[in-house]
Amino acid sequence: MKDFKGKVAFITGGASGAGFGMAQIFSEAGCKVVIADVRQDQLDKAMDYFKDKDAQVHPILLDVTDRKAYIAAADEVERVYGTPPQILLQSAGVNAFGPAEASTYEDYDWIVGVNLGGIINGMVTFVPRMIKAGLGGHIVAVASLGGFGPGPTTAPYSCSKAAVINLMQSYYEALRPYGIGVTAFCPGNMNTNIHEASKTRPKHLQNTGYYETQETAEAYRKHNELGLSIREVGEHVMKSIEQGVVIYIPNEEREMIIRVHMQRMIDFLTPEGMARHNAQAGGPPPEMPPEEIAAIVEASKVGWAKARPDIDWVAPNKKA
Ligand code: NAI
Repeated sequence: MKDFKGKVAFITGGASGAGFGMAQIFSEAGCKVVIADVRQDQLDKAMDYFKDKDAQVHPILLDVTDRKAYIAAADEVERVYGTPPQILLQSAGVNAFGPAEASTYEDYDWIVGVNLGGIINGMVTFVPRMIKAGLGGHIVAVASLGGFGPGPTTAPYSCSKAAVINLMQSYYEALRPYGIGVTAFCPGNMNTNIHEASKTRPKHLQNTGYYETQETAEAYRKHNELGLSIREVGEHVMKSIEQGVVIYIPNEEREMIIRVHMQRMIDFLTPEGMARHNAQAGGPPPEMPPEEIAAIVEASKVGWAKARPDIDWVAPNKKA
């Protein structure tokens, strides 16, 4: 897809961060935009931004894990703009980090529920409507470089993003005959509000094994500040659609990044590879710049990505 003018773009997580950046860039390209988000305060702020812009933007309060609400949101788009979206941008996502062995059922249910379950709900809700409308289109799901790189403190997040990357490849093959493109967008660090993710954590999923305080959120924010701006993200997402690639990594070193991760999987196949891997394991991801590594080291000093101190089976150096 190269021409965005007049297309309907539905953006989950569209009130903040990457999704809000997409709303800016796609509305400026002439799209009729819906921003769907679980945070009313962020929706209000985003709509404030668009107030004096020459943009068609419609807000919908939506929890992407709520299937009934998702169907109602899809009906609302058709009422407001006359067609289902031709562009579906799924950016809603959350994270929380801590030792895998400290993770609770609730950590998995929340993070995998939103990051993978939310995207599954988006596909099941919109794909039939998009096919029936016969207008073609493009679907982008925001995954993460974390979906290629598992880590000792990122288990729920990394597995949810790996699944999204896999899911998008299935849909790419399935939707080609209908003229609908599919992309898994896999950024590294972005300057967003994801350090506030726990604000959207539902009451019944509050029990976490990880150590989370205002101080750890603030330390994580400082790391995110070093990432891509949200407008850059929006531009990259548009480029991913123009290029029609199935996996889009907004870093120049994209091939090197994938090679390093694929080599790890090859190493996992043999005892010699395992020895090689175990001799090197524990370092930062290949794509992480030194200033981001330094910010992560600082964050871990205040307990970020560590376990709650009362979890008694976790090694002492992994606890806050
Ligand atoms: P953000 O927190 O600024 O934006 C995410 C938006 O999703 C928020 O407005 C939030 O209210 C919304 N949201 C959360 N749960 C929701 C739910 N159940 N239903 C509907 N909306 C919901 O964070 P950011 O960074 O813009 O996140 C966007 C995507 O980017 C996420 O999928 C995240 O995992 C991914 N990502 C972020 C990276 C980063 O460094 N910030 C790096 C790689 C991927």
